[in-house]
Amino acid sequence: MSSVIVAIDGSAASGKGTLAKRLAAHFNYAYLDSGSLYRAIGVAVLRQGGDPSNESQAVAAARTLDISQFTPEDLRTEAAGVAASQVAAIPAVRAAILQFQRDFAHKPPQGKKGVVIDGRDIGTVVCPDAQAKIFVSASLEVRVQRRIKELRAKGEVVIEARVRADLEARDARDSSRSVAPMKPAEDAWQLDTSTLNADEVFDLAKKFVAGKIA
Ligand code: C5P
Repeated sequence: MSSVIVAIDGSAASGKGTLAKRLAAHFNYAYLDSGSLYRAIGVAVLRQGGDPSNESQAVAAARTLDISQFTPEDLRTEAAGVAASQVAAIPAVRAAILQFQRDFAHKPPQGKKGVVIDGRDIGTVVCPDAQAKIFVSASLEVRVQRRIKELRAKGEVVIEARVRADLEARDARDSSRSVAPMKPAEDAWQLDTSTLNADEVFDLAKKFVAGKIA
């Protein structure tokens, strides 16, 4: 029996990660944060003193990626997010981790019956066959404030203008790259979370997914 695939795409700090985790827990599906793969590749290049936009360095890091070398704290910094979007614009980096993502989707770990994967190109490129696709967005101002709250909660010193500039640069790079740009799949449900809290977003999405997999 083939697994149920739920694809959650959207912009940085749109709330898609929180939503994807809650959906996975609710439906008892496996969860894959595809952004963490790009983040790990970006951080691996930085650890070697390299440049994440250098193709040969980024591709070498992608091909030898060992995700166990990174803690969630290593991956969730703003610097890791920026490095991730630089390596993610390189087609050979994307190609190197494509099959891993598809295998995870089609053969979820621990015999789970489905998966929730979040990213930028899950509904369009990685799993165009996903049963439920959601594209999550929120206005830039809302995303800046959410990201600041998240960073302050971790005790980071935050410069608002810097957070805004990083998010804008990341969005621009993610939507304009030639390979797998961030965009909603034609059959994705577009969910603007600007005026919704996390519980409201979860309730709406839960009903949408339940309707798709019934
Ligand atoms: O989602 P997150 O902010 O962790 O992703 C970090 C970066 O990784 C994104 O800005 C994007 O450039 C890249 N990414 C991607 N495709 C995905 C997931 C993430 O290009 N499926």
